[in-house]
Amino acid sequence: MDQHTPRPSNLFYLSSLRRPVVDRAEGIYLWTEGGRRFIDGSSGPVAVNLGYGNPAVLEAMRRQMERTTFAYRLHFENEPAEELAHTLAERLPAGLDRIFFVSGGSEAVESCIKLARQWAVATGQKNRWKVIARMPSYHGGTYGSLAVTGDGLLTDTFAEQILMMPTVPAPTAYRDRDNLSMDERGVRYADMLEEKILVEGPDSVLAFIMEPIGGAATGALVAPESYYPRIREICDRHGILLIHDEVMSGVGRTGRMLGGDHWNCRPDIVSLSKGIGSGYVPLGALAAPERIVRPVVAMGGFQHGHTYAGNPLACAAGLAIMGEMDRLGLIDNAARMGDVLIDGLRGLARRFPFIADVRGKGLMTAIEYADRETFAPLPAAWKIGQRILDAAYARGLIIYSRRVKGGVQGDYTMVAPPLIVTREEVGEIVSVLGDSIAAVAGDLDLPVEG
Ligand SMILES: Cc1ncc(COP(=O)(O)O)c(C=O)c1O
Repeated sequence: MDQHTPRPSNLFYLSSLRRPVVDRAEGIYLWTEGGRRFIDGSSGPVAVNLGYGNPAVLEAMRRQMERTTFAYRLHFENEPAEELAHTLAERLPAGLDRIFFVSGGSEAVESCIKLARQWAVATGQKNRWKVIARMPSYHGGTYGSLAVTGDGLLTDTFAEQILMMPTVPAPTAYRDRDNLSMDERGVRYADMLEEKILVEGPDSVLAFIMEPIGGAATGALVAPESYYPRIREICDRHGILLIHDEVMSGVGRTGRMLGGDHWNCRPDIVSLSKGIGSGYVPLGALAAPERIVRPVVAMGGFQHGHTYAGNPLACAAGLAIMGEMDRLGLIDNAARMGDVLIDGLRGLARRFPFIADVRGKGLMTAIEYADRETFAPLPAAWKIGQRILDAAYARGLIIYSRRVKGGVQGDYTMVAPPLIVTREEVGEIVSVLGDSIAAVAGDLDLPVEG
């Protein structure tokens, strides 16, 4: 195969190599047409929570396909969408029981922002339109979600076409080298939100959007405990809605239904996606309380929609996925296997002194490469995260790697296998990752201990 022959479905061929063609997938493994096996240590883009080829989900999809794959939401209600909405509402923090289904994460984020805005208009707060976001952060690839995405590499090309929203620093407290305790740092980061609100004018601020546990832009970033309640307090004080983007961290990924549940967070609106479709169908959702939905409905209804919103086939799959998550106890498994995984990654940090941080919750974890003392990034030219990703791929292990701002704001590997992962499989992932890091350390002449 010519590694650079363009394929019609791939717009990246000038910069990236061709990939092997997938043949089939089962559990946490994928096989190529040539019979090579890959272990999925990242659940695709941290999405395939249930693992591949679950028979109950496939059967539920088949049953729904035989009835109908589509019925337009403005013409018909459908049972799978209603049941899935109930199922989600039962598992979400109290009051988040009005659900609007979409087809992915960017759509979910945009829907949250539009619902917030329409609520403000419907309640006589037309001046409120700014949505403060964090830098760095990732909220999606469409224009509305890019407007709140804190990553110049992704937004600069399009900036003239977007009304970029104000940002505050993401709470990367693990990196700070000051004399403050973690809790003091958490408060300091949260207070930056209040300072920003005051600068922007509190009456013009509609919402604050954040990933409770950081995803692509911050690699499983967990803020100090004090951050979460303080953010809630600040939003309440200024009448600002708190939107939690749980597209990656939600639906059991971190060992709780929502990432924010670790701190009993009470967001006003939540976006979900990845885990609820789990790679079986394109599916996303927003969840909001009646008090936000009612004025919007009274105004004539949510001025928003997509052709595939509330699609019966997608929702039937989503319902079966939630059923399997319960039956297999996957949220608990994520918590248990997450502990095993973090232990394994800490072992790697003991071997490789250029691993400066190991973090995460449940099966959303990351290791960051930097100088351990100063947290200075490693030389950008080393492209260490990419090299480790390539070395792992060559060994049949898929991980998720990302550098933020050319590595200046972090160069890391995310490890986030499907929630069905077993202790033995976690061991295999850590072992192959260790071999991959050792190979790269050898190439770059980096120190290795033990
Ligand atoms: C936190 C977060 N929000 C939104 C998105 C966008 O989701 P999608 O790629 O499904 O549009 C992502 C995707 O990685 C994400 O991690």
